[in-house]
Amino acid sequence: MNARLDDFPIPDLANPATFVTGVPHEAFDRIRAMPGLYWQPAAQGTLTGGFWAVTRHADIVAIERDPEAFTSSKGFFFPGALENVAEVPSLRANIMLTDPPTQTRLRKAAARSFGPRVVAQFDEWIRAIVVEVLDDVVAKGEFDWVADVAAIIPSRVVARVIGVPFEERQLIVDWTNNIFHASTIPDGFKSVLEAAAASFSYMDALRPRKLRDPKDDMGTILAQCVERGEISEDECRLYLSLLLVAGFETTHTAIAQSMRMIVESPEIRQAVTDAVASGGLNLLVEEFLRYITPAMNMARTATRDLEFRGQHIRKGDMMQLYFTAANRDPSLFSEPHRFVPARPKNEHITFGSGAHHCIGNALARLEIRILFEELHKRNITLKLNGTPKRGWSTFINQLFELPVAVVR
Ligand code: HEM
Repeated sequence: MNARLDDFPIPDLANPATFVTGVPHEAFDRIRAMPGLYWQPAAQGTLTGGFWAVTRHADIVAIERDPEAFTSSKGFFFPGALENVAEVPSLRANIMLTDPPTQTRLRKAAARSFGPRVVAQFDEWIRAIVVEVLDDVVAKGEFDWVADVAAIIPSRVVARVIGVPFEERQLIVDWTNNIFHASTIPDGFKSVLEAAAASFSYMDALRPRKLRDPKDDMGTILAQCVERGEISEDECRLYLSLLLVAGFETTHTAIAQSMRMIVESPEIRQAVTDAVASGGLNLLVEEFLRYITPAMNMARTATRDLEFRGQHIRKGDMMQLYFTAANRDPSLFSEPHRFVPARPKNEHITFGSGAHHCIGNALARLEIRILFEELHKRNITLKLNGTPKRGWSTFINQLFELPVAVVR
């Protein structure tokens, strides 16, 4: 350990307690400035007793572009390392645990319903969901922004994208909430898989329903892909269930944390008002996404012994890709720790990069934009009405509760 590290030890990045008060950006700054990579020992959840903390933007992009050297098939988050994914039936067909060309094939099947042009047509029904949710909470006057807004909008949106009938959409809200709570239990995938089991059976039953009564939704598209032999039944089930987690947890965190910033800072509140009024909302949403970075990291695993940035990496070593640190890399972002509402050239990697780059990014961006527009249109101002409760996760920049009241 060098002198700087002795003076200011890096907190244990494998311990959720390190994230209880916030993202340890100071530690990431110090790690980023060191030569090579920083090794974080971990008692569980990796194959070789720890992980390399990758904090530089360019390093993460390079690793994500090289799936032959850094695979997704041994787990995509810490502490979720898998010796052999083929031995876990409920996981092995998960797109996030595949590399090209399997990943490319799965992605092609789903991409048709997620491109920016397709997603732009979702505006009307997403707006209807947002307005319905906002009307409910405004009537209440005092409420928890996380439970009543941030958790509801993304789950209803995902339900509609999948093609869950209206009268069954509460099931999706309940499952996503269960999965969200399970994800706070630090036992790798175990609790999440138990919580997701109900959604697996539902997705299996949905497939024949979609074939009988096809609609313009992801459930129908994927059911037809199975019929044509382009994807397997397992892949279809896992993909639809993944949407619940991938589309919910992250978007819900972006909506929760951005409102926390607004109710805690008069400057940010004003910046949002100005941005919506002047048509600068896109830039503002990008800055929220950069600043919050809902999924703080993803992981890859070295497929062989190799050298990376002067560091010897062993086969099986986990590379923890800290998007949250890359998004504050001073080589790309000036004043990286400042929230700059109209930040130009905002090249954040909140949605990752490379082959697994978030397929739902256009949808997430649209949801958040519509929410801010509708809050503005309805002249809804909120104030803090209690103490926000932060989550504790090494993976998601979680917020559990945000008590707010409508300013009348
Ligand atoms: C603010 C909201 C969101 C954030 C921050 C986010 C972030 C991410 C990240 C970091 C990845 C992995 C990228 C990588 O490994 O390079 C990812 C993948 C993925 N996301 Fe999102 N996501 C969001 C919203 C959504 C939504 C709304 C959906 C769909 C309803 C979605 C579906 C997916 C899927 C299916 C993948 C896997 C893609 C693949 O493996 O090829 N995400 N997302």
